[in-house]
Amino acid sequence: MINKFRFGNPIIQTDAVVNDVSLSKNSLGLGSVKSDWPFLFEYKMSKDDMIFGLGENVRGINKRGFHYTSWCSDKPNGNESDSSLYGAHNFIVIFGEKITGLYFDTPSKIEFDIGWSDYDTLTVKCDVDGIFLYEITSSENEKSRALKDIVHQFRQMIGQSYIPPFWAFGYQQSRWGYRTESDVREVVKKYRENNLPLDSVCLDIDYMEEFMDFTVDKAKFPAFKALNEELSAQGIHLIPIIDAGIKQKEGYEVYEEGKKGDYFCKKADGSNFVAAVWPGKCVFTDFFRDDARKWFGSKYKALTDAGVEGFWNDMNEPALFYTEDGLKQAFDKFESFKGKELDINTFFEFTPVSGSTCNRIEDYKSFCHQVKDLNGNTVSVSHDRLHNMYGAMMTKAAREGLDEIKKGKRTLLYSRASCIGSHRYGGIWMGDNIAWWNNIEMELKMLPSLNMCGFLYTGADIGGFGDSSSRDLVLRWLAFGVFTPLMRNHAAWNTRNQECYAFGETEDFKSVLSLRYALLPYIYSEFVKASLKNEMMFRPLSFDYPEDKIARDIEDELLLGNEVLIAPVCKQNAKGRFVYLPEDMIQVTWKDCKATQSSIEKGGHYIDIPEDTVVFFIKKGKSIPFCKKIAQSSKDIDYSSLTKLGDSDATYELYSDDGFTTDISLKNIQKY
Ligand code: GLC
Repeated sequence: MINKFRFGNPIIQTDAVVNDVSLSKNSLGLGSVKSDWPFLFEYKMSKDDMIFGLGENVRGINKRGFHYTSWCSDKPNGNESDSSLYGAHNFIVIFGEKITGLYFDTPSKIEFDIGWSDYDTLTVKCDVDGIFLYEITSSENEKSRALKDIVHQFRQMIGQSYIPPFWAFGYQQSRWGYRTESDVREVVKKYRENNLPLDSVCLDIDYMEEFMDFTVDKAKFPAFKALNEELSAQGIHLIPIIDAGIKQKEGYEVYEEGKKGDYFCKKADGSNFVAAVWPGKCVFTDFFRDDARKWFGSKYKALTDAGVEGFWNDMNEPALFYTEDGLKQAFDKFESFKGKELDINTFFEFTPVSGSTCNRIEDYKSFCHQVKDLNGNTVSVSHDRLHNMYGAMMTKAAREGLDEIKKGKRTLLYSRASCIGSHRYGGIWMGDNIAWWNNIEMELKMLPSLNMCGFLYTGADIGGFGDSSSRDLVLRWLAFGVFTPLMRNHAAWNTRNQECYAFGETEDFKSVLSLRYALLPYIYSEFVKASLKNEMMFRPLSFDYPEDKIARDIEDELLLGNEVLIAPVCKQNAKGRFVYLPEDMIQVTWKDCKATQSSIEKGGHYIDIPEDTVVFFIKKGKSIPFCKKIAQSSKDIDYSSLTKLGDSDATYELYSDDGFTTDISLKNIQKY
């Protein structure tokens, strides 16, 4: 059951909810609204209440004990002291004696204090315009069913999650630093030479001419179309990046066209808003406008015509390095320190000045979007009031464009910034992480929270984006990445190489990557079913075993579908790990490209997991499909060679299809 409430004066209908309900005459069933506007919601939590949700954010699966802000942020190296990352996902479920889902539908900043100021109090605050609050409860009596039902109702309300083509579930190699055609060929050659499976290579900003969207640098990539054809014959897709900012350069076709159509965001004086990103000064498409979105989306054709079938959209919070105003302020501030002896106060004022030009709230306030208000009138609204939707609207532009260009065919698309709604148009990667061991666990914790909010096609930069990685970190991270829908190794230009061949001794990497391909039919099947049925692909143990007090607190294991439990190794030098199994299972040990199986009882176990080995568990009485023949890319997956892992008498509901058309439905499920 869903109740909808309105507080303040929401300016627009966000793009989140597709199956809307009318405003409720009931009062809130849980907690109270202490102030209608500025909005202040409060709930006194019971001792054992757990709070799930908030999608892409820091800290635990249980969000209690910290404060979080929904504000799409350019946050490289996100860690425990941050309270926002790249996405804004305002859905939580309170799980205790009472079980209730709350979705705070607003395009702007909203703050969640989940027992941080006071461990027993949950508050949600918003003071920008207005919000719609959806309260979701379940008639299911049993806790686990009620929890899943609430998530299901929410997911139904926000619409079906994006499904990429089958090849997008293959392994992707990326690096900011593949500068030329021969760099890309070299990567593919090394993967193939070492029998390391691979489906895609991502192209970062270096492929563009002067970092200009929808261009290819002809000096570095002289025959881009031919390169796509050559790689496609080897089962490899190129996935180019597209950035939000468009270089402000006279004569650059995309800029000129956008100027002519007047598609760019404006300042109050009517001039285009200009801020610097990679190419220097840029303008920004007003993705809230239908015509501007249509125009931007059509530009992807420049690359699809050359054979590209997948993209990643970046810097779309939007990330801003500086505006002229911000730069002037920073220089003035620097000037004010000149000749002075810096004391304890002034020194700490001085040090952050150069970074102060990035992503300033003053800049976000200085430009506007043209939107339709709730009465259908076009109004001009400053960006800060709509901030969390900007990246999502860029994803929408790309999706609408790509669907138009590739009629009836799926294309791969994932974005950095997101908010609920954009899960229908594309996936997300989890932004700039860092080569730290705890970042594996961070990814693990975000997976179920993101699934709750509709984001199924997701994964973090394997090996870590910032800082140089190590052989063991890449290998352990890959062993976890085997299970994540987006499996991409990506790193920054100033780090050591971390491709699967970069550390010598490639056999271990080959074995781990091969497991991904052996499991592809299962991962794809679980993914599509989760999307079609509005379910979570990954769940914390607490969702399925709420009465098991050990399982409830586990935050380093996950359930995958209804069959599998994963427990990755997240610690350096560990030779294995403790695993808690909430029921009897079959342990699968994958080593040297071979699986062995053994029964293992419910309870706590120390499991040996050497670096070259992946271990996972299948519930007793369940089976999963498994490809015996090792593939080098997804196009070689042979469904006729499927066997079963787990209980050989158990049947599995296998979803399979052609992998590239939009003909996707539950009728494609067969008993296997
Ligand atoms: C941003 C992206 C990162 C990319 C870099 C250069 O930091 O998050 O993935 O490599 O920009 O384009």
